[in-house]
Amino acid sequence: MNYRHAFHAGGFGDCVKHALLVWMLGALTRKAAPLFVLDTHAGAGAYDLGGGPAERTGEWRGGIGRLLEGTPEVLGDYVGLVRRLGLYPGSPMLARALLRPGDRMACCELHPDEYAQLRRRFGRDPQVGVHHRDAWEALGALLPPTEKRGLVLIDPPFEAPDEFDRLLAGLRAGYARFRAGVFAAWYPIKHRAPVRGFLTGMAESGIRDVLTAEIWLREPVDPAQLNGSGLLVVNPPFRFAEAAAAILSALLDRLGRGEAGAGTALIRLADE
Ligand SMILES: C[S@@+](CC[C@H](N)C(=O)[O-])C[C@H]1O[C@@H](n2cnc3c(N)ncnc32)[C@H](O)[C@@H]1O
Repeated sequence: MNYRHAFHAGGFGDCVKHALLVWMLGALTRKAAPLFVLDTHAGAGAYDLGGGPAERTGEWRGGIGRLLEGTPEVLGDYVGLVRRLGLYPGSPMLARALLRPGDRMACCELHPDEYAQLRRRFGRDPQVGVHHRDAWEALGALLPPTEKRGLVLIDPPFEAPDEFDRLLAGLRAGYARFRAGVFAAWYPIKHRAPVRGFLTGMAESGIRDVLTAEIWLREPVDPAQLNGSGLLVVNPPFRFAEAAAAILSALLDRLGRGEAGAGTALIRLADE
């Protein structure tokens, strides 16, 4: 396990995932019934952009750095949380900030150092369970939640060559246990072929009500670069497609550099 999210925190991929996550949690917390959030690959929880790994890559400057300089209205909730929370908040901190008193969250992280940081952040929080456990195993063990309503974020590091296959298998396993759950899975778009294979597998999986939101900064032809990113959502909250289209367009406007092949798309892979 070599991947450390601190090098990428606040970069383009995080902005896409986190802006859409914040919108979805906002939508789900409008209903009074308690909500469960499972963050299967939680990372450290928060990152210092001013020093260490984040400063070394500088990825955040082309991501959240630009959004902080000028924030489109549709990204206001996400960027507002980033401003309020100080350190760049990872998915667990963003989700925690949006939970209400009756809601609950479970975070899983396998890397010992990241897990230790998560534990320091949330160890005493009665609404948050911090688990040093494998994400794929947790999808079986922690679902379905007693609340019967929930959002499951699956955000693997994509360092293993078979990560798209594992993601597809994880989505199938999680959905089999929790059909009503909202599942959100982030994926990188470096080159089209592996993404196409994953989306075809999803379309053929029998999982209902699936949308994917994609954004490319440039034509995805160089597999060495993060050319785009996607968030696949099962059982998207009401009006997700309209909101995601507006969020992606604002992100491309702020983070794009006018390169050839840049664009956004909302793709329906399976009907309700
Ligand atoms: C992309 S990062 C997560 C970032 C986080 N979700 C966020 O948005 O702030 C992926 C994390 O998954 C962890 N990880 C990798 N394989 C895992 C596994 N099988 N189970 C749990 N965590 C894993 C890595 O250590 C890394 O911290």
